[in-house]
Amino acid sequence: MTALIIDGKQIALDTQIEIKRRVSALSARGVMPGLAVILVGDNPASHVYVSNKVKSCGAVGMHSVLEQYPADLSERQLLERIAALNSDAAIHGILVQLPLPAHINEHAVLEAISPTKDVDGFHLLNAGALMTGQPRLRACTPYGVMKMLEHSNIAMRGAHAVIVGASNIVGKPMAMMLLQAGATVTLCNSKTRDLAHHTKQADIVIAAVGRARMITGDMIRPGATVIDVGINRDEAGKLCGDVDFESVKSVAGAISPVPGGVGPMTITMLLMNTLEAAEKALLS
Ligand code: GUN
Repeated sequence: MTALIIDGKQIALDTQIEIKRRVSALSARGVMPGLAVILVGDNPASHVYVSNKVKSCGAVGMHSVLEQYPADLSERQLLERIAALNSDAAIHGILVQLPLPAHINEHAVLEAISPTKDVDGFHLLNAGALMTGQPRLRACTPYGVMKMLEHSNIAMRGAHAVIVGASNIVGKPMAMMLLQAGATVTLCNSKTRDLAHHTKQADIVIAAVGRARMITGDMIRPGATVIDVGINRDEAGKLCGDVDFESVKSVAGAISPVPGGVGPMTITMLLMNTLEAAEKALLS
């Protein structure tokens, strides 16, 4: 059996058509959705991520600003910038790229962003809203994974979903979204004993650990859906996911590739969150 390839790039393009249409409708009413992206320091991967985010805003007709600061920016200076953006009517979404330099308290920064502009969905209020079944702004990567599953007609109600990786950015919000969709959820972490025992039971496996090709074909139940959230470089410097695509694709029923899977959807859901924040601002 060869798995269905879940083409995140195509789903992202289709979703961006809808976003563009809604951006035009808002513009006609005098509101241009705006995203502010803040990057502190010079992490090379973060540079690539933020420039992709800003570029994508342009592609759907949104306004964006990229603010770059040196690694020695103080926490107070960063909080002052966030406060200014919170009260800037031209900005509907604020994203502070993680990781931050060690001297800055990440939690303090994330809590300083207005929950209505928190397009990453990382604020306690948005995380809590998701957990209690009243989602507002949702974390972009798991939100994108849900769209990929829906778009590919993967049944979630009553399915067993096994998530590998329990981060605040992906694993935990992913668990909440799948639970809300009616799945039975197992959330594995770095201390989980006999990981393969868990993944082999899964109808849906979400790999979000950050270790190159660690999920192999022998860990997957035939016919299962496998979504790869990882972005790694292998020994040869080649971009790869957390899933060993070659061995898994002959076992799984459906699989998302890296690149061209979750990555484009994460950015697209950031655009969707910014659009939704702007639409809400018009109503309030
Ligand atoms: N660093 C890695 N992923 C993310 C993300 O989704 N949002 C932000 N702000 N930083 C990240």
